[in-house]
Amino acid sequence: MRKVKEQAVVPYSVNRPAEMPFWNEIVCGDSAELLKLIPDNSVDLVITSPPYFQQREYDGGGIGNERKPDEYISALMKIFQECVRVIKPTGSIVFNVGDKYEDSSLLLMPYRFAIAATEQCGVTLVNHVTWVKSNPTPRQFKRRLVSSTEPFFHFVKSQDYKYFLDEFLKPAEEPKANGNGTGENVGKKYFLLIEQSTLTPKQKEMARNALEEVIEEVRNGEIQGFRMKIRGIHSEPFGGQDGGRKIQLDKNGFTIIRIYGNPLKKDVITTPVESLKNCPHPAIYPVKIVDEFIKLLTEKGDVVLDPFVGSGSTAVAAFQNERVYIGFDISEEYCNYARKRLSSVKHQLSLWERSNAYAE
Ligand SMILES: C[S@@+](CC[C@H](N)C(=O)[O-])C[C@H]1O[C@@H](n2cnc3c(N)ncnc32)[C@H](O)[C@@H]1O
Repeated sequence: MRKVKEQAVVPYSVNRPAEMPFWNEIVCGDSAELLKLIPDNSVDLVITSPPYFQQREYDGGGIGNERKPDEYISALMKIFQECVRVIKPTGSIVFNVGDKYEDSSLLLMPYRFAIAATEQCGVTLVNHVTWVKSNPTPRQFKRRLVSSTEPFFHFVKSQDYKYFLDEFLKPAEEPKANGNGTGENVGKKYFLLIEQSTLTPKQKEMARNALEEVIEEVRNGEIQGFRMKIRGIHSEPFGGQDGGRKIQLDKNGFTIIRIYGNPLKKDVITTPVESLKNCPHPAIYPVKIVDEFIKLLTEKGDVVLDPFVGSGSTAVAAFQNERVYIGFDISEEYCNYARKRLSSVKHQLSLWERSNAYAE
């Protein structure tokens, strides 16, 4: 007999504040106007990619077609100021701005924007995260290199911003228990090397005891792994902690380097440029990047706003992470596409849930 598993209550459908408009909606209009309808301190994350300076004419017009860089930055600042107003003190703003060549020289538009934002809007720039495009447009220039990076600027308006570092660029799998083999083999090679070394019997005994101790730490999951250096067998280390590894090596005949397994969280995201079949939008950013920022800066049920939502990438990432989305775009065509894209994602999810809801 097939049983239906209990469905989890979707948390974000129940916590809507009465005064909050556009809950899980894609809205067509000028974001300079629409943002005014959002209450102060009500949004957890604004993440967006405004039109780049003189890059292309979007369906619907809007920002990006100003004649001079200063005019473009001023237009962006009007929107940015509103973003600062609507985010909660615990919230964040992430802007992706692209650069542009004029007379063979880069305009440094992203940096002009970031400087204006910090100088005019009272925000702190937490990071400049670089998107490395693993598949940049393959163009050949004779006198310059192919641009293959774009910045994502992370701003906050208070130091109380939510931050979930462990969630950022989480490895797909938990790391292996240790870097020295698992189970019975942990450290086996080092026992052999201790025996083969020229250490005194007393030093060999100390080395074996220390090795057993560190193996136990690996087995208990206290550390990810370790490396051992034995005098006369391994190269000499360059000093380090615990009074200097070189001193330990001289005195005891061995030293142990513990690996704590916290991967460095660097300000780089490497991912390809995405393209969607039959998508009318010419410049979409990867859902993967939005996904990483959503996990880093928000919790389930939080509100994610994109004032230039285009094809809906931000809304898709928010929905998939069980966050509330609000998306604005000046183009009716892109709004319609974003709505269709979202309903297809929702449909796929409900099919998946239904197929998982039944158990023998
Ligand atoms: C770079 S695209 C955003 C693409 C989006 N990140 C995606 O992945 O599809 C910028 C968008 O801003 C929209 N836009 C330009 N000016 C606007 C304005 N004043 N208000 C709302 N949307 C605007 C354009 O129609 C365009 O879709």
